[in-house]
Formats: sequence, structure tokens, C-alpha cells
Amino acid sequence: MLETERLILRPLCGADFDDYAAMLADSEVAGGLAEPVGRTPEDAWRSLATFIGHHEIRGFSHWAVIEKETGRFAGRAGPWSPLGFPGLGVGWCLAREHWGKGYATEAGRAAIAYCFSALDAEEVVSLILPRNGRSIAVAERLGHRHLRDEEYRGRSVHVYGQRRPAAND
Ligand SMILES: CC(C)(COP(=O)(O)OP(=O)(O)OC[C@H]1O[C@@H](n2cnc3c(N)ncnc32)[C@H](O)[C@@H]1OP(=O)(O)O)[C@@H](O)C(=O)NCCC(=O)NCCS
Repeated sequence: MLETERLILRPLCGADFDDYAAMLADSEVAGGLAEPVGRTPEDAWRSLATFIGHHEIRGFSHWAVIEKETGRFAGRAGPWSPLGFPGLGVGWCLAREHWGKGYATEAGRAAIAYCFSALDAEEVVSLILPRNGRSIAVAERLGHRHLRDEEYRGRSVHVYGQRRPAAND
């Protein structure tokens, strides 16, 4: 479990399902994701199970983003590298009512630091749909730069990312 100024980042679990399904039922949320996902409860269940299973297989995954002040589920964010993903990813996804508070940037910053320290990564990447201006803004606030474009699961995505700072930086 990690803690930032305003957030708790803890492992996703089955008890998150109702909040998770409500988040993905929103077309503005599901439509932004580079990992294609449907909007039904069944789609959300499979998506949540994939993130929980990713932790079992890889030893890390997106965390549930919990608002400290209220204890509410705000979304998910964290490291991610399923088979076929081009590198070690960091991602963010917030329920619509939690946009505009800086939570994605706050969680993303913790996720990048975790990748460079706990996972000893040399580079982290984020795959972003070209029309997702809000996510591009998060990436840029986090110090990512646009590295290239590529095809991912049938769609053209921007690959943003950054390398681990040198030890003496
Ligand atoms: C992408 C996504 C996470 C971005 O959310 P966001 O709220 O725009 O990003 P942040 O959480 O970093 O918040 C930044 C905003 O909060 C504002 N803000 C308010 N209080 C703040 C604070 N205390 N600290 C920092 N920023 C704050 C910033 O000014 C900024 O507002 P602006 O967008 O009007 O300039 C969100 O749109 C989302 O979940 N989309 C659907 C899923 C998705 O597309 N995921 C990304 C896949 S690549």
C-alpha cells in the first residue's frame, strides 16, 4: 500500500466491483482507455479480474485509488505490463466525479517512482489514444514525452514515456 498527500493506493480487490463497474459504465471513462473495454458489468468484472490477476502473475498491478479524506474509491492507477504490452506501463483511470482534482497526476507520480525504485525499471511508458487530451496533459505534467506512435490491440496509440533519471541528477 502507498500513501500520497491526498490518496491511498492499495491493491484492487473484489469488493471494489460496484465502484469499478459504475466507473466504466460511463462512456467518457471507458472511451478514453487505450486498453479496449466495454461498458457492461460483465466487461467491468473481467477487467477488474485482469488487474487483480496481473498482480498475482507479475507481482504488481494498478492499485485502487482511494480518496483519503472520504475513503471513497476514485479509480485505478499504477504499473501494468500484460503480455504484448510494449514495456512497463503506468496508467490512470478515474471515475468522472474525480476528474479535475489532480488525482491522476498525484497517483501517476507515485506509480512512476514505484517503477523506478521498487521495480528497478529503466523506462516507463503510457499508451494514450491521440484524442485523449486530458491523459496527454497528465503524461506531460508527469514529465513524460511523446516517444513514438504504434499499433496496440488494433488501434493507433501515442507512446509517451520517460527514462529513470541518472543517479547523480
Ligand atoms: C485521464 C484522466 C485520468 C485525467 O484526469 P484529470 O482530472 O484531467 O487529471 P488530474 O487528475 O491530473 O487533474 C488535473 C486537473 O485537476 C486540476 N486540479 C484541481 N485541484 C488540483 C490539485 N490540488 N492539484 C493538482 N491539480 C488540481 C488541475 O488544474 C487540472 O485541471 P484542468 O484539466 O482543468 O487543467 C481522466 O480524464 C480519466 O480518467 N479519463 C478516462 C480514463 C482514461 O482516459 N484514462 C487514461 C488512459 S491513457
